[in-house]
Amino acid sequence: MILQLDQYAVMGHPIAHSQSPRIHTLFATQTGQNLEYRAILVEPGDFAAAARTFHAAGGKGLNVTVPFKQDAWVFADILSARAERAGAVNTLIFGPGGVRGDNTDGPGLVRDLTVNHRYPLAEKRILLLGAGGAARGVLQSLLAEQPAQLVIANRTADKALGLALRFSGLGRVSACGFSELAGRRFDLIINATAAGLDDAVPPLPDDVLAAEGWCYDLMYGREPTAFVRWGRAHGAVQSLDGLGMLVEQAAGSFHLWRGVWPETGPVIAALREG
Ligand code: ATR
Repeated sequence: MILQLDQYAVMGHPIAHSQSPRIHTLFATQTGQNLEYRAILVEPGDFAAAARTFHAAGGKGLNVTVPFKQDAWVFADILSARAERAGAVNTLIFGPGGVRGDNTDGPGLVRDLTVNHRYPLAEKRILLLGAGGAARGVLQSLLAEQPAQLVIANRTADKALGLALRFSGLGRVSACGFSELAGRRFDLIINATAAGLDDAVPPLPDDVLAAEGWCYDLMYGREPTAFVRWGRAHGAVQSLDGLGMLVEQAAGSFHLWRGVWPETGPVIAALREG
């Protein structure tokens, strides 16, 4: 008898460099779960068809990455409250009741900061750079930690304002353009812009990071990202990249699918080693 392992995958474009198959395979080995996880390249516009095909072939769940998180939001039959508000889905669960959509990005960021790095966010002054999908995906979880304030700064200030309005019921959130940051100080600066793709950093005042401040880039790479380097150059106690968040959001998906929490520490360490 051939045993068909439960099938999972990540869909994105591009997808070749995705670490998700490695992460989930490590989780599966660690927790003794029998499953297979692969990366599937999907052409823009083809997400729904690809997800349907995967489901029809017996697939149990999907991770969804750039540029399909909004398509997955539309595709899901039922949305978690956090995915609903984020307007983006990174985890699909194929079950008897239909396709559930959730978003584990925000909880992943918060767990990396508060658990792995023991950096509580309560009463902190947080600056979130960017107002695109990445920023929207983490806002609810950040506000749930009850920071003293959360300011969204974006190149296009109007987009930051729109985002602040959308989340205003959840905590002390406001918005501005980069030029309005002069004279302000923050304990934690989170980069959710795409500037790092060009090895760039948004234009920030040199003194915007408070003494004892931390920096966190949602992006990660083999080499320190431009924003991680900015943090180091501006006196951050810690200037972290998004590898820990990547593993934590994966753990959140794994838990939704399998009902068990993997240990993330050894997996983060393995990925750091290359
Ligand atoms: P993502 O899903 O990664 O958030 P996105 O929705 O396209 O991608 O959003 C990209 C974000 O990065 C936006 O906030 C964008 O600013 P604008 O809204 O003004 O376009 C920001 N961004 C991209 N390149 C940037 C740069 N060179 N400097 C500053 N911000 C940048």
